[in-house]
Amino acid sequence: MVPARNDGTDHAATSEAHMTSFGFQTGEICFAEGWQDYGLLDSGDGMKLERFGPYSFIRPEPQALWPRRCDDSLWDAAAGRFAATSDDPEKGGRWQLAKHLPERWEMGFETIRFYASPTPFRHLAFFPEQSAHWQFCADKIKAFIAKHGRKPRILNLFAYTGAASLHAAAAGAEVTHIDASKKAIAAAFENRDLSGLGDAPIRFMTDDVSKFVAREVRRGNLYDGVILDPPKYGRGPKGEIWRLEETLPELLQQCRQILSPEAAFLVLTIYAIRTSTLAVHSAVAEALSAMPGHLTSGELAIREEQDNPRAIGQALFVRWQNEETNTD
Ligand SMILES: C[S@@+](CC[C@H](N)C(=O)[O-])C[C@H]1O[C@@H](n2cnc3c(N)ncnc32)[C@H](O)[C@@H]1O
Repeated sequence: MVPARNDGTDHAATSEAHMTSFGFQTGEICFAEGWQDYGLLDSGDGMKLERFGPYSFIRPEPQALWPRRCDDSLWDAAAGRFAATSDDPEKGGRWQLAKHLPERWEMGFETIRFYASPTPFRHLAFFPEQSAHWQFCADKIKAFIAKHGRKPRILNLFAYTGAASLHAAAAGAEVTHIDASKKAIAAAFENRDLSGLGDAPIRFMTDDVSKFVAREVRRGNLYDGVILDPPKYGRGPKGEIWRLEETLPELLQQCRQILSPEAAFLVLTIYAIRTSTLAVHSAVAEALSAMPGHLTSGELAIREEQDNPRAIGQALFVRWQNEETNTD
Protein backbone atom coordinates (compact mmCIF):
# COMPACT_ATOMS: atom_id res chain seq x y z
CA MET A 1 0.00 0.00 0.00
CA VAL A 2 3.04 2.27 -0.07
CA PRO A 3 2.67 4.78 -2.90
CA ALA A 4 5.46 5.14 -5.42
CA ARG A 5 7.67 8.16 -4.91
CA ASN A 6 7.43 10.86 -7.51
CA ASP A 7 11.00 11.56 -8.51
CA GLY A 8 9.89 14.01 -11.17
CA THR A 9 10.95 11.74 -14.01
CA ASP A 10 8.90 9.91 -16.54
CA HIS A 11 11.33 7.25 -17.70
CA ALA A 12 8.87 4.37 -17.68
CA ALA A 13 6.38 6.19 -19.86
CA THR A 14 8.90 7.20 -22.47
CA SER A 15 10.86 3.95 -22.66
CA GLU A 16 7.86 1.71 -23.35
CA ALA A 17 6.21 2.44 -26.66
CA HIS A 18 2.90 0.87 -25.64
CA MET A 19 2.52 2.93 -22.46
CA THR A 20 -0.11 5.62 -22.29
CA SER A 21 0.91 9.25 -22.48
CA PHE A 22 -0.10 9.90 -18.86
CA GLY A 23 3.24 8.99 -17.28
CA PHE A 24 3.47 8.35 -13.57
CA GLN A 25 2.70 11.52 -11.67
CA THR A 26 2.09 9.70 -8.44
CA GLY A 27 2.85 9.95 -4.74
CA GLU A 28 0.59 12.96 -4.11
CA ILE A 29 -0.76 13.24 -0.57
CA CYS A 30 -4.17 14.92 -0.22
CA PHE A 31 -5.02 15.83 3.36
CA ALA A 32 -8.56 16.29 4.60
CA GLU A 33 -8.52 20.07 5.12
CA GLY A 34 -11.14 22.62 6.09
CA TRP A 35 -13.10 20.56 8.61
CA GLN A 36 -14.71 22.16 11.66
CA ASP A 37 -16.65 19.07 12.74
CA TYR A 38 -13.99 16.39 12.23
CA GLY A 39 -10.42 16.03 13.45
CA LEU A 40 -7.77 13.44 14.23
CA LEU A 41 -7.03 14.24 17.87
CA ASP A 42 -4.31 11.72 18.55
CA SER A 43 -3.05 8.37 17.34
CA GLY A 44 -0.61 5.68 18.35
CA ASP A 45 -0.21 2.13 19.57
CA GLY A 46 -2.33 0.88 16.65
CA MET A 47 -5.32 3.15 17.41
CA LYS A 48 -6.66 6.54 16.40
CA LEU A 49 -8.78 9.01 18.37
CA GLU A 50 -11.04 11.16 16.18
CA ARG A 51 -13.54 13.92 16.76
CA PHE A 52 -16.89 13.64 14.93
CA GLY A 53 -18.85 16.73 15.95
CA PRO A 54 -19.23 16.77 19.74
CA TYR A 55 -18.18 13.14 20.20
CA SER A 56 -14.85 11.38 19.98
CA PHE A 57 -14.24 7.78 18.94
CA ILE A 58 -11.40 5.28 19.14
CA ARG A 59 -10.86 3.05 16.11
CA PRO A 60 -8.16 0.53 15.27
CA GLU A 61 -5.44 2.00 13.05
CA PRO A 62 -2.70 -0.52 12.25
CA GLN A 63 -0.68 2.25 10.57
CA ALA A 64 -0.26 4.18 13.84
CA LEU A 65 3.22 2.80 14.44
CA TRP A 66 4.12 5.33 17.13
CA PRO A 67 3.19 6.06 20.74
CA ARG A 68 0.14 8.12 21.73
CA ARG A 69 0.90 11.66 22.81
CA CYS A 70 -2.26 12.86 24.53
CA ASP A 71 -3.27 12.18 28.08
CA ASP A 72 -5.19 9.01 28.85
CA SER A 73 -8.00 11.25 30.11
CA LEU A 74 -8.65 12.44 26.52
CA TRP A 75 -8.80 8.87 25.24
CA ASP A 76 -10.95 7.80 28.19
CA ALA A 77 -13.50 10.50 27.31
CA ALA A 78 -14.28 8.82 23.94
CA ALA A 79 -17.98 8.18 23.35
CA GLY A 80 -17.26 5.02 21.41
CA ARG A 81 -14.57 2.46 20.81
CA PHE A 82 -14.54 -0.07 17.99
CA ALA A 83 -13.17 -3.39 19.17
CA ALA A 84 -11.99 -5.28 16.08
CA THR A 85 -12.19 -9.05 16.06
CA SER A 86 -9.72 -9.30 13.16
CA ASP A 87 -6.88 -7.28 11.61
CA ASP A 88 -8.80 -7.42 8.33
CA PRO A 89 -10.88 -4.21 8.06
CA GLU A 90 -13.40 -6.16 5.98
CA LYS A 91 -14.04 -8.42 8.94
CA GLY A 92 -16.07 -7.52 11.93
CA GLY A 93 -15.87 -6.20 15.37
CA ARG A 94 -18.25 -4.18 17.45
CA TRP A 95 -18.74 -0.79 18.94
CA GLN A 96 -18.76 -0.13 22.65
CA LEU A 97 -20.79 3.06 22.86
CA ALA A 98 -21.48 5.45 25.74
CA LYS A 99 -25.09 5.48 26.91
CA HIS A 100 -25.44 9.21 26.25
CA LEU A 101 -24.50 8.84 22.54
CA PRO A 102 -27.50 9.50 20.27
CA GLU A 103 -28.19 7.09 17.43
CA ARG A 104 -27.05 9.78 14.99
CA TRP A 105 -26.12 13.44 15.01
CA GLU A 106 -25.57 16.23 12.49
CA MET A 107 -22.23 17.14 10.99
CA GLY A 108 -21.26 19.70 8.37
CA PHE A 109 -18.56 20.36 5.81
CA GLU A 110 -18.56 23.70 4.00
CA THR A 111 -22.18 24.10 2.83
CA ILE A 112 -23.35 20.49 3.18
CA ARG A 113 -24.79 18.72 6.22
CA PHE A 114 -25.16 15.02 6.92
CA TYR A 115 -25.71 12.54 9.73
CA ALA A 116 -22.93 10.62 11.44
CA SER A 117 -23.61 7.33 13.19
CA PRO A 118 -21.42 4.36 14.09
CA THR A 119 -21.89 1.48 11.62
CA PRO A 120 -20.92 -2.19 12.00
CA PHE A 121 -18.24 -1.59 9.34
CA ARG A 122 -16.18 0.50 11.81
CA HIS A 123 -16.86 3.80 10.05
CA LEU A 124 -19.40 6.51 10.90
CA ALA A 125 -21.56 6.55 7.75
CA PHE A 126 -19.27 8.86 5.79
CA PHE A 127 -15.52 9.11 5.08
CA PRO A 128 -13.93 12.38 6.24
CA GLU A 129 -10.76 11.91 4.19
CA GLN A 130 -12.92 12.08 1.05
CA SER A 131 -13.34 15.83 1.61
CA ALA A 132 -10.20 16.38 -0.51
CA HIS A 133 -12.08 14.84 -3.45
CA TRP A 134 -15.23 16.88 -2.74
CA GLN A 135 -13.15 20.07 -2.98
CA PHE A 136 -11.32 18.88 -6.10
CA CYS A 137 -14.63 18.08 -7.83
CA ALA A 138 -16.19 21.41 -6.77
CA ASP A 139 -13.24 23.30 -8.33
CA LYS A 140 -13.63 21.36 -11.56
CA ILE A 141 -17.41 21.87 -11.60
CA LYS A 142 -17.10 25.63 -11.14
CA ALA A 143 -14.41 25.86 -13.84
CA PHE A 144 -16.62 23.79 -16.16
CA ILE A 145 -19.60 26.11 -15.66
CA ALA A 146 -17.42 29.17 -16.28
CA LYS A 147 -16.07 27.64 -19.49
CA HIS A 148 -19.13 25.93 -20.98
CA GLY A 149 -21.98 28.00 -19.50
CA ARG A 150 -23.92 24.92 -18.40
CA LYS A 151 -24.14 22.59 -15.42
CA PRO A 152 -21.84 19.58 -15.78
CA ARG A 153 -23.47 16.15 -15.49
CA ILE A 154 -21.72 14.20 -12.74
CA LEU A 155 -22.08 10.47 -12.11
CA ASN A 156 -21.38 9.27 -8.55
CA LEU A 157 -20.95 5.47 -8.43
CA PHE A 158 -21.08 3.49 -5.14
CA ALA A 159 -22.38 6.80 -3.82
CA TYR A 160 -23.43 5.58 -0.33
CA THR A 161 -24.83 8.31 1.95
CA GLY A 162 -24.19 10.99 -0.61
CA ALA A 163 -21.71 13.56 0.71
CA ALA A 164 -19.88 13.68 -2.66
CA SER A 165 -23.20 14.01 -4.53
CA LEU A 166 -24.39 16.82 -2.27
CA HIS A 167 -21.12 18.72 -2.39
CA ALA A 168 -21.06 18.44 -6.22
CA ALA A 169 -24.69 19.62 -6.45
CA ALA A 170 -23.93 22.53 -4.12
CA ALA A 171 -21.08 23.49 -6.48
CA GLY A 172 -23.57 23.64 -9.37
CA ALA A 173 -23.58 20.14 -10.93
CA GLU A 174 -26.44 17.91 -12.05
CA VAL A 175 -25.77 14.67 -10.21
CA THR A 176 -26.74 11.03 -10.82
CA HIS A 177 -26.21 9.09 -7.60
CA ILE A 178 -26.06 5.28 -7.87
CA ASP A 179 -26.00 2.82 -4.99
CA ALA A 180 -27.26 -0.73 -4.55
CA SER A 181 -28.51 -0.20 -1.03
CA LYS A 182 -31.99 1.23 -0.43
CA LYS A 183 -30.87 2.10 3.08
CA ALA A 184 -27.91 4.10 1.75
CA ILE A 185 -30.16 5.91 -0.74
CA ALA A 186 -32.65 6.72 2.04
CA ALA A 187 -29.78 8.14 4.13
CA ALA A 188 -28.63 10.19 1.13
CA PHE A 189 -32.18 11.63 0.80
CA GLU A 190 -32.12 12.66 4.44
CA ASN A 191 -28.70 14.26 4.02
CA ARG A 192 -29.96 16.12 0.95
CA ASP A 193 -32.83 17.58 2.96
CA LEU A 194 -30.54 18.35 5.90
CA SER A 195 -28.30 20.27 3.46
CA GLY A 196 -31.23 22.30 2.13
CA LEU A 197 -30.69 20.79 -1.33
CA GLY A 198 -34.24 19.47 -1.76
CA ASP A 199 -34.57 21.29 -5.09
CA ALA A 200 -31.10 20.45 -6.37
CA PRO A 201 -30.88 18.39 -9.58
CA ILE A 202 -29.81 15.09 -8.00
CA ARG A 203 -31.16 11.82 -9.40
CA PHE A 204 -30.95 9.07 -6.76
CA MET A 205 -31.08 5.53 -8.14
CA THR A 206 -30.99 2.14 -6.45
CA ASP A 207 -29.15 0.11 -9.06
CA ASP A 208 -26.19 -2.14 -9.73
CA VAL A 209 -23.28 0.04 -10.84
CA SER A 210 -22.10 -2.30 -13.60
CA LYS A 211 -25.60 -2.73 -15.05
CA PHE A 212 -26.31 0.99 -14.85
CA VAL A 213 -23.09 2.01 -16.59
CA ALA A 214 -23.50 -0.68 -19.29
CA ARG A 215 -27.01 0.69 -19.94
CA GLU A 216 -25.70 4.25 -20.21
CA VAL A 217 -23.08 3.06 -22.75
CA ARG A 218 -25.83 1.42 -24.84
CA ARG A 219 -28.00 4.54 -24.65
CA GLY A 220 -25.13 6.89 -25.47
CA ASN A 221 -25.69 8.96 -22.33
CA LEU A 222 -22.64 11.05 -21.45
CA TYR A 223 -21.26 12.57 -18.25
CA ASP A 224 -18.84 15.42 -17.64
CA GLY A 225 -17.37 13.89 -14.48
CA VAL A 226 -17.35 10.48 -12.79
CA ILE A 227 -16.68 9.68 -9.13
CA LEU A 228 -16.06 6.04 -8.13
CA ASP A 229 -15.58 4.78 -4.58
CA PRO A 230 -15.94 1.02 -4.99
CA PRO A 231 -15.74 -1.41 -2.09
CA LYS A 232 -13.57 -4.49 -2.33
CA TYR A 233 -16.66 -6.67 -2.42
CA GLY A 234 -20.32 -5.73 -2.77
CA ARG A 235 -23.67 -6.76 -4.14
CA GLY A 236 -26.12 -5.05 -6.45
CA PRO A 237 -29.83 -4.83 -5.54
CA LYS A 238 -30.51 -8.18 -7.23
CA GLY A 239 -27.50 -9.90 -5.71
CA GLU A 240 -25.17 -8.98 -8.60
CA ILE A 241 -21.65 -9.58 -7.37
CA TRP A 242 -19.06 -6.80 -7.34
CA ARG A 243 -15.46 -7.95 -6.84
CA LEU A 244 -13.08 -5.08 -7.31
CA GLU A 245 -10.19 -7.07 -8.73
CA GLU A 246 -12.44 -8.77 -11.28
CA THR A 247 -14.97 -6.08 -12.17
CA LEU A 248 -13.07 -2.79 -12.01
CA PRO A 249 -11.18 -3.06 -15.35
CA GLU A 250 -14.40 -3.41 -17.38
CA LEU A 251 -16.15 -0.71 -15.37
CA LEU A 252 -13.28 1.72 -16.06
CA GLN A 253 -13.47 0.96 -19.78
CA GLN A 254 -17.20 1.65 -19.71
CA CYS A 255 -16.69 4.87 -17.75
CA ARG A 256 -14.33 6.00 -20.50
CA GLN A 257 -17.14 5.46 -23.01
CA ILE A 258 -19.58 7.65 -21.09
CA LEU A 259 -17.20 10.58 -20.59
CA SER A 260 -18.33 13.49 -22.74
CA PRO A 261 -15.88 15.27 -25.07
CA GLU A 262 -15.85 18.18 -22.58
CA ALA A 263 -15.51 15.91 -19.53
CA ALA A 264 -13.59 17.54 -16.69
CA PHE A 265 -12.63 14.71 -14.32
CA LEU A 266 -12.75 11.13 -13.13
CA VAL A 267 -11.91 10.28 -9.53
CA LEU A 268 -11.30 6.73 -8.28
CA THR A 269 -10.68 5.83 -4.64
CA ILE A 270 -9.60 2.41 -3.46
CA TYR A 271 -9.79 1.22 0.13
CA ALA A 272 -9.14 -2.17 1.55
CA ILE A 273 -7.34 -4.00 -1.18
CA ARG A 274 -3.70 -4.90 -1.25
CA THR A 275 -2.43 -2.86 -4.16
CA SER A 276 -0.17 0.09 -4.86
CA THR A 277 -0.88 3.57 -6.14
CA LEU A 278 1.15 2.68 -9.19
CA ALA A 279 -1.11 -0.25 -10.08
CA VAL A 280 -4.32 1.75 -9.62
CA HIS A 281 -2.78 4.62 -11.58
CA SER A 282 -1.90 2.21 -14.39
CA ALA A 283 -5.43 0.77 -14.44
CA VAL A 284 -6.97 4.21 -14.97
CA ALA A 285 -4.22 5.19 -17.46
CA GLU A 286 -5.03 2.08 -19.49
CA ALA A 287 -8.77 2.75 -19.51
CA LEU A 288 -8.44 6.45 -20.35
CA SER A 289 -5.46 6.16 -22.69
CA ALA A 290 -7.07 8.01 -25.58
CA MET A 291 -8.13 10.96 -23.43
CA PRO A 292 -6.39 14.32 -23.22
CA GLY A 293 -5.48 15.75 -19.82
CA HIS A 294 -3.46 14.19 -17.04
CA LEU A 295 -3.55 11.77 -14.13
CA THR A 296 -2.38 12.20 -10.59
CA SER A 297 -2.47 9.54 -7.92
CA GLY A 298 -1.51 9.10 -4.33
CA GLU A 299 -3.12 8.81 -0.92
CA LEU A 300 -6.04 10.44 0.83
CA ALA A 301 -4.76 11.14 4.31
CA ILE A 302 -5.63 12.58 7.69
CA ARG A 303 -3.21 14.29 10.07
CA GLU A 304 -3.32 15.06 13.74
CA GLU A 305 -4.54 18.37 15.14
CA GLN A 306 -1.35 18.92 17.13
CA ASP A 307 2.18 20.25 16.70
CA ASN A 308 4.40 18.03 14.55
CA PRO A 309 1.38 15.99 13.48
CA ARG A 310 1.63 12.37 12.50
CA ALA A 311 -0.28 11.53 9.31
CA ILE A 312 -2.13 8.40 8.23
CA GLY A 313 -3.00 7.33 4.69
CA GLN A 314 -6.59 6.13 4.44
CA ALA A 315 -7.04 5.23 0.79
CA LEU A 316 -5.37 5.24 -2.60
CA PHE A 317 -6.73 7.50 -5.30
CA VAL A 318 -6.33 8.34 -8.97
CA ARG A 319 -7.68 11.53 -10.51
CA TRP A 320 -7.93 12.22 -14.19
CA GLN A 321 -8.52 15.81 -15.16
CA ASN A 322 -8.94 17.44 -18.49
CA GLU A 323 -6.12 19.97 -18.75
CA GLU A 324 -8.47 22.65 -20.03
CA THR A 325 -10.38 22.79 -16.74
CA ASN A 326 -7.29 22.40 -14.59
CA THR A 327 -7.62 24.88 -11.74
CA ASP A 328 -4.62 23.67 -9.71
C1 LIG B 1 -19.49 2.41 1.63
S1 LIG B 1 -19.20 2.70 -0.04
C2 LIG B 1 -17.56 2.47 -0.25
C3 LIG B 1 -16.78 3.04 0.82
C4 LIG B 1 -15.37 2.67 0.85
N1 LIG B 1 -14.83 2.68 -0.48
C5 LIG B 1 -15.14 1.29 1.48
O1 LIG B 1 -14.60 0.41 0.83
O2 LIG B 1 -15.49 1.14 2.64
C6 LIG B 1 -19.70 1.23 -0.77
C7 LIG B 1 -21.08 1.42 -1.35
O3 LIG B 1 -21.12 0.66 -2.52
C8 LIG B 1 -22.41 0.11 -2.62
N2 LIG B 1 -22.32 -1.02 -3.53
C9 LIG B 1 -21.67 -2.19 -3.35
N3 LIG B 1 -21.81 -2.98 -4.44
C10 LIG B 1 -22.56 -2.31 -5.33
C11 LIG B 1 -23.04 -2.56 -6.64
N4 LIG B 1 -22.78 -3.72 -7.25
N5 LIG B 1 -23.77 -1.62 -7.27
C12 LIG B 1 -24.05 -0.45 -6.65
N6 LIG B 1 -23.61 -0.13 -5.42
C13 LIG B 1 -22.88 -1.04 -4.76
C14 LIG B 1 -22.80 -0.23 -1.21
O4 LIG B 1 -24.20 -0.29 -1.08
C15 LIG B 1 -22.18 0.91 -0.44
O5 LIG B 1 -23.09 1.94 -0.18
